[in-house]
Amino acid sequence: MAPPSPVSPNPPSPDGTGGVRVQLSGLRRSFPGGVPVIEGMDLDLAAGSFVALVGPSGCGKSTLLRLVAGLDRPDAGTVTFSPPLERTRGARNPIAYVFQDAHLLPWRSVLDNVALPLEFADVPAPERHATAHAMLEHVGLGDATARFPAELSGGMRMRVSLARALVTRPRLLLLDEPFAALDELTRNRLDDQLLALWKELGMTVLFVTHSLSEAAYLAERAVVLSRRPARVMLDRPLALPRERLPALRAEPGFAREMGLLLQALERGDAT
Ligand SMILES: Nc1ncnc2c1ncn2[C@@H]1O[C@H](COP(=O)(O)OP(=O)(O)O)[C@@H](O)[C@H]1O
Ligand SMILES: [Mg+2]
Repeated sequence: MAPPSPVSPNPPSPDGTGGVRVQLSGLRRSFPGGVPVIEGMDLDLAAGSFVALVGPSGCGKSTLLRLVAGLDRPDAGTVTFSPPLERTRGARNPIAYVFQDAHLLPWRSVLDNVALPLEFADVPAPERHATAHAMLEHVGLGDATARFPAELSGGMRMRVSLARALVTRPRLLLLDEPFAALDELTRNRLDDQLLALWKELGMTVLFVTHSLSEAAYLAERAVVLSRRPARVMLDRPLALPRERLPALRAEPGFAREMGLLLQALERGDAT
């Protein structure tokens, strides 16, 4: 195996959109009548980096993503983006969110599903169709633009969902267990596709998964959370080659990284 390359931010993409740095500081969130979900969380994500967030079910991962996305507000603490994100009305959304369910509109074609965020941003029809078509080609669905969601496999639907998330060239991509419902081969292929998109587009990626092997395969850095309230048990740059190829899954270095993540997960479950 090649020696581990240093973890460095993804270079900015040629059109200068690139990734954004995300800093969480003293973040707290509890829900009425419940125990705290997030109790003083600090995290600093480098611009253009790919970070995996792993933790047991119910520990607060989705809550954390919602706070980062601005879909929920913390009780205390801040989420800061640098450079600051442009979030004016009509602007292309600089933060994209992908869920386990593809959430496609069944009555719209694949092309019109992917073009939807551009429609919201008042992009003229010819431009939005051309942009959506190009993004669909990126995810290998250039031939499926006229099809409807019901005619697609689960993996294809997820690729449409990815294309729709990326069509606005977001500076931050949040993924919440996106491929968890797919079979293992489909999931592995989507992991590779996501890596290729990240390298090309340069956005910052925060990827939530409960699969340790997926976290180790995808990310430059892994953050392992304890059970609720979520605390950071391990925050580590993965000592793996920057180029991730399927054969990596069989390498001893890969098993070692997974072992470290598992130990942290177990410690977080015991305390
Ligand atoms: N809107 C809400 N109201 C009350 N409790 C919530 C709400 N959202 C999440 N929770 C609780 O917060 C905890 C963490 O949830 P979540 O962030 O979805 O966990 P994860 O994504 O890690 O599985 C859970 O116990 C859940 O029941
Ligand atoms: Mg969740």
